[in-house]
Amino acid sequence: MFNNRLWTRRHAIRLGLATVSGMGVAIAAKKISSRQEILSSNNQQKRTAQDFEVTSRTPLKSRAASKGLIYGAAGNYPALSSDASFKARFVQECGILVPENELKWHPLRPTASSFDFSKGDWLAKFTREAKMLFRGHNLVWNQFMPEWFLYSANSQNAEKLLTEHITTVVKHYAGQMHSWDVVNEVIDPKHGRPNGLAHSPWLDFLGLEYIELAFRVAAESDPQALLVFNEAGLKYDTQEHEARRNTVLKLLERLISKGTPIHALGTESHILAHETAFNPKKLRTFLSDVASLGLKIMVTELDVVDQKLPVDINYRDIAVASLYQDYLSVVLDEKAVIAVLTWGLSDRYTWHSQYSPRSDGAPVRPLPFDSNLQPKLAWNALAKAFDNAPKR
Ligand code: XIL
Repeated sequence: MFNNRLWTRRHAIRLGLATVSGMGVAIAAKKISSRQEILSSNNQQKRTAQDFEVTSRTPLKSRAASKGLIYGAAGNYPALSSDASFKARFVQECGILVPENELKWHPLRPTASSFDFSKGDWLAKFTREAKMLFRGHNLVWNQFMPEWFLYSANSQNAEKLLTEHITTVVKHYAGQMHSWDVVNEVIDPKHGRPNGLAHSPWLDFLGLEYIELAFRVAAESDPQALLVFNEAGLKYDTQEHEARRNTVLKLLERLISKGTPIHALGTESHILAHETAFNPKKLRTFLSDVASLGLKIMVTELDVVDQKLPVDINYRDIAVASLYQDYLSVVLDEKAVIAVLTWGLSDRYTWHSQYSPRSDGAPVRPLPFDSNLQPKLAWNALAKAFDNAPKR
């Protein structure tokens, strides 16, 4: 589809199609081929639908809340504003909403001097009316940047652009935001920079200090919001994810030692069902290390990609649910984890339909509810994970 010669960083950023973080990094993950291993990376037991039985349909938000946890999902304006039954499901199950795209630079800032808060405001109002928390995603990223930025940003004006963007946007929602992803996907050791940082116009123009600057400006603009460093590719037992975990820890330590107002790590959790390589011990240790820095942890962007699993729906749903369960049983054991957000709620609206479609054309099934808004085994796995989680 794309001509390689055009596939420069600038174009990738402009199209908003540069490496789909959790995905790109996970491609390198160790292949696990046997059915048994796919179904359970923690223990070698095959599972069946019965293993995910739950005794009630108490919504996920209530099950999470009873353990001091927040459960919610990414939702977008087109779906929530036009689909009443989806909206009702969202309200029933979610204690927090994060706009999937509406608060990214591209939709929010059509020109250098104008902001369009209309869709974000609609979503904010929806959360107020539904008595749901609202969460911001994101203030600084190297993707989803407007065209005008790519052609006019430079090392002279970058600090002003960043500061005015964060000030305007964070102040606009001040007092309403549970948390903000201040920086998003800032590392990528594959890019070959000595400090493990990803290519980014912000890094090019402002150096590493852009991260600290972003947190400071966000804290000044809304002293109440939890300020989050959201990062992908931290979960597998691969050299690459190990390098990413080490890089993140070093960066977090550095930020904290400089007194940066950073409050939590967001761990993006796009899990590839066909090639996972969890090591519960390493994942658990990493989360403890983060917690010991005094940070909270939010499980962000959780979904399980069934793109390359056999087409059989029963098989796929058990495999997907197993991965939700395997992952969450490790992650929720860490009491610094305060929230779990899936990247979408129903297979009716998932970015994977576009980004990770199946080659056989069958609809993908990565989320807790199916495309008819009925709960799947993945919902049961989430429910059980909350039921079994230690209380915060
Ligand atoms: C994705 C959205 O889900 C898509 O609708 C959009 O086309 C591309 O971005 N990491 C992130 C999210 O931090 O913002 C991305 O969201 C998924 C990967």
